[in-house]
Amino acid sequence: MANVVRLQYESKPPPFGHEMRKCFSFDPEYINMNHGSYGSLPSPVAEAIKPYYALAEANPDLFHRFTSIDLIRDVRKRMAKFVGAAHTEEVVFVPNASHGLNTILRSFIWEEGDIISSCNTTYNSISRTAEYISDIPPHPEAVQFTLLFPTSHSEIIQNWRAYVKSLNEIRNQSAQKLGRRPKIVAIIDSIISVPGALLPWKEMVKICKEEDVWSVVDGAHSIGQELDLNLAEANPDFWVTNCHKWMYAKRGCALLYVPKRNQHIIKASFPTSHAYKKGGGSNFVEQFEWNGTIDFVPYISASCALDFRAWLGGEHVINDYCHRIALEGGKRLAQILGTEIIDQGQDFQFTLSMVNVAVPFPPTMSSAFEIDMAFRRKLLIKRKIYPAFFYHNGKWWIRCSAQIWSQVEDFEVLGEAILEASKEILEEFGDGTEKKTMIIEDKDERLIVN
Ligand SMILES: Cc1ncc(COP(=O)(O)O)c(C=O)c1O
Repeated sequence: MANVVRLQYESKPPPFGHEMRKCFSFDPEYINMNHGSYGSLPSPVAEAIKPYYALAEANPDLFHRFTSIDLIRDVRKRMAKFVGAAHTEEVVFVPNASHGLNTILRSFIWEEGDIISSCNTTYNSISRTAEYISDIPPHPEAVQFTLLFPTSHSEIIQNWRAYVKSLNEIRNQSAQKLGRRPKIVAIIDSIISVPGALLPWKEMVKICKEEDVWSVVDGAHSIGQELDLNLAEANPDFWVTNCHKWMYAKRGCALLYVPKRNQHIIKASFPTSHAYKKGGGSNFVEQFEWNGTIDFVPYISASCALDFRAWLGGEHVINDYCHRIALEGGKRLAQILGTEIIDQGQDFQFTLSMVNVAVPFPPTMSSAFEIDMAFRRKLLIKRKIYPAFFYHNGKWWIRCSAQIWSQVEDFEVLGEAILEASKEILEEFGDGTEKKTMIIEDKDERLIVN
């Protein structure tokens, strides 16, 4: 069996902060404050995966029929341990979180009276998935839990309990009519995309268990950002994470966790594998080992990324730094803009490595898509610095990702750029009290992709 080579770095890593940019391939003029969307591949990880690309091309048949399967089994074993799964066979690779979550949600055998629940803060394409499932027969009902910031973990847990109980009452009424008990499936973010915020997802999962509701956890932002993952203990029914975001794997690498007790739900991988057996649901791992030819090296890169992280000092060292910069940088940015951060509690329960700061707009400012586009043009293209922008609870916000290359000074540069850009946007679009014509220069379809 071929194993992935564990890398031992001989030199010391550069210190965190701007010197760490040496380990990434960024345009020297660009300040990356949006690691959360697409991740960033460290150059040592890019180097470490080259031999696997060489193997794939040296003998494509040997690599795809034997070597890559062994290598990916080895990496899966390492990843299962890393996320605290009880068994290696509960963890498989998929290309991205959307793929994993769609696999789960479309695998349920939906019946009339079933309920699929998302949140107003669920990642857009995932709440669209719930909507799509509800749109096709047998039309399970799509419902939403409302989460409005500022809030607190205890308030969310209290509201979640009441919400899940109310779904159960609806189910009980349907059960009487239908003569069977419909199912409820709840999509829960561990860390929301926008606002970038850690939810009390373990408590939310526990409430689902108590109320006999399936929990599907969207942990796209978790691995590499959320410390000490222990899935066996948290016990979600399903969980998906992107290794290419905070864990530094090559893009196209995500983990799908399905505990053995629930593997019968995933009857077939998507796309269907050669390994599918009549009836489905019996050979979970085998089906996901091969379900169409893709570049398998991103899966292998997960192991190289963990080696790189060990070299940096490990998970706690990395995340302590990013968390400190997120908090200090977020506060400094709010000070420059004269606004506030969204996480207003004393203990910053929602903040890991992402921080959300209000844009200095008047409260009348609308939520138009063109405003997001204008920020993209004015920051990403014109000023070469970029965080994410979003509208939540009547306000525009900035989501900044702090990373090992970040310094508080980056937030200061961003602050000046946002002051200028928001002033320009107010001049161009008005403050929302009157309708102005929105002129979009340089309209470029590529920018529309989030
Ligand atoms: C919470 C959340 N879920 C799902 C996704 C989708 O990830 P991907 O595009 O890698 O499928 C994202 C992407 O940013 C996300 O933030």
